[in-house]
Amino acid sequence: MNIRIQKCIELIKANDLAGVVLNPGQSLTYLSGLHFHLMERPTILIITREGEMAVILPELEKGKLSGDAAKFQAFTYGDAPASWHTAFEQAASALMLETGRVGVEPEQLRFMELQYLHAAFPGVDFLDGSQVFSTLRLNKDEEEVAKMRRAAMIAQEALLATLRTLRLGITEKVVANELIIQLLRAGSDPNLPFEPIVAFGENSANPHAVPTDRALTPGDIVLIDWGASFDGYLSDITRTFTFGGVDEELMQIGEIVHRANQAGRDAGAEGLAAGVVDRAARAVIEEAGFGPYFFHRTGHGLGMSPHEEPYIYAENHQILTLGMTFTVEPGIYLPGRGGVRIEDDVVVTADGLQTLTDLPREVLPIEDFID
Ligand code: CO
Ligand code: CO
Repeated sequence: MNIRIQKCIELIKANDLAGVVLNPGQSLTYLSGLHFHLMERPTILIITREGEMAVILPELEKGKLSGDAAKFQAFTYGDAPASWHTAFEQAASALMLETGRVGVEPEQLRFMELQYLHAAFPGVDFLDGSQVFSTLRLNKDEEEVAKMRRAAMIAQEALLATLRTLRLGITEKVVANELIIQLLRAGSDPNLPFEPIVAFGENSANPHAVPTDRALTPGDIVLIDWGASFDGYLSDITRTFTFGGVDEELMQIGEIVHRANQAGRDAGAEGLAAGVVDRAARAVIEEAGFGPYFFHRTGHGLGMSPHEEPYIYAENHQILTLGMTFTVEPGIYLPGRGGVRIEDDVVVTADGLQTLTDLPREVLPIEDFID
């Protein structure tokens, strides 16, 4: 039994559950190495506290069960939907799971799967198993961190290639599309962690801007928030540039956000609360008088999911432990004028936070990157 499944079983016991149910998504891949698409046919992995494992899946997917997954008890069904419930019933009798509390991933499991589960396991209480799933993938091992570092390198290479194409009049959408092409060319998995944000001028004051037909104009801030995926592990980076020289105050907030990013990355350490990182970054911005213009948390966990634990907000008492990975992304947003955000990805090590991203963080002129 692999170490990840062992850990899952320990967490099932620690949370006083009879088992957990997974459907296609990052946790299922993490535990089994299997990749399934979420589709109209249900695929389910059940792990019990006794270490029994059963997978319910379409007959045509059975060939995927190799390696560790070859040891799962498999219950398959054919193309006629009327017969699908029998695979669930067979799994139920094989697992002898008649009562107890079983955890599901609340953001993953759909009504369809839940209906089949309720019908086949009438005595079982299905409930929110977040405590198991958020802890399971929280601390990354060396191999996982290496994949995240690779995802960061791919993203950085793609950005540099994209910046070379910027010119007067180019639109946010065209730049975002070019960045996607460059991410794929640099070796990202095809499923990007999220659609890149490319925001010019006043649009950069919106932290979640969606690329538009806004054309690049002298005096613009250029904010780009993007990431790559490598073997299922993600990067999430933001850099901010200027085009044609921007006004003094925007340059000033650029310098403050840069210091806040550094302060956040310097403050975190094993054994400290996650909130320490937020407070250190926020203090720099507040002391400079821009507190009200930094209105989001300083970061979020990052791994196989673009947002996961630990969340980096002031009140979070969750203790940072070795191998946790998250973003540090302070920003200042001046409505109608522009915003600056500088986002890096870090891992908790015995020597403090190690940064996986190494592109220059200063707010630099785009012109420096065009050859
Ligand atoms: Co981001
Ligand atoms: Co982020």
